[in-house]
Amino acid sequence: MQTTPVRLWDLPTRLFHWALVVGISFSWFCAETGGNWMVWHERSGIFILSLVLFRLVWGFIGSDTARFSQFLTSPAHVVQHWRDIRGQGTAFHAGHNPLGAWMVVALLAMVLFQGSTGLFATDDIATEGPLAGLVSGKTAELLTSVHHLTFNLLLLLATVHVAAVMFYRFIKRTNLIKAMVLGKADWPASQAQPSGLRFKPAWLGLVVFGCVYALVWFIIKVLATF
Ligand code: HEM
Ligand code: HEM
Repeated sequence: MQTTPVRLWDLPTRLFHWALVVGISFSWFCAETGGNWMVWHERSGIFILSLVLFRLVWGFIGSDTARFSQFLTSPAHVVQHWRDIRGQGTAFHAGHNPLGAWMVVALLAMVLFQGSTGLFATDDIATEGPLAGLVSGKTAELLTSVHHLTFNLLLLLATVHVAAVMFYRFIKRTNLIKAMVLGKADWPASQAQPSGLRFKPAWLGLVVFGCVYALVWFIIKVLATF
């Protein structure tokens, strides 16, 4: 199949995605290893939380393909896409497809919830989230259970997410991973290319992330003094 490279993802969105994957893997490793690694579990957890909050902001002010308004569509579009992918052709979209878009929202919400409950979690021995002291022992215990439970749900969602990416790669012959790594998709020459996509500069994304990260640390530090 003849293809042309078409720019789809800006650098901040790509960095966000792969930092999220590495961050969650590292955080998981630290939590499972325990002991002194819990300090790094909390630090990486706060970093992940900041990544997701950055992505929410970028979803409003970022490049066209990163905007929620561009990729969140009605259930009718989702159903239409579901019918399309059961057909023969490739499945290129100028951004997330209508079905994948809602998975993106679910993943973001799940990671946000995971990070937020972690702030209040406690192992009742040596480690507690920086905000655990703000709630009663019973509430901290409940949020710790939720923190454990949502991680299993997150793993499940991530597995479905990766399975979907593999489905596109091997069944639909659509390489989404390459586009998420390099920013450009191998667009089939036979299919109309997206035109007029606007991209925001990478420095803006990095500045926004820096501000969000600093703000998250500041808010946690202030709240932890109460
Ligand atoms: C902890 C595991 C993972 C999480 C939480 C996760 C989360 C996400 C999120 C939130 C997005 C949307 C990106 C954005 O618009 O900013 C996304 C997209 C994507 N992810 Fe992941 N991801 C995970 C693992 C992976 C892995 C292991 C791969 C590669 C095999 C992968 C491949 C992709 C691809 C190709 C896209 C773009 C999909 C598209 O073109 O619509 N993800 N992921
Ligand atoms: C957002 C990404 C996060 C992920 C994926 C994650 C994952 C996990 C997992 C899997 C465990 C259970 C380990 C085990 O006992 O087997 C755990 C425990 C824990 N997490 Fe997180 N966590 C995240 C964020 C955070 C944050 C932001 C904090 C606090 C700043 C935090 C604080 C804790 C604490 C204190 C425990 C110990 C609870 C216990 O042993 O019962 N986590 N986390």
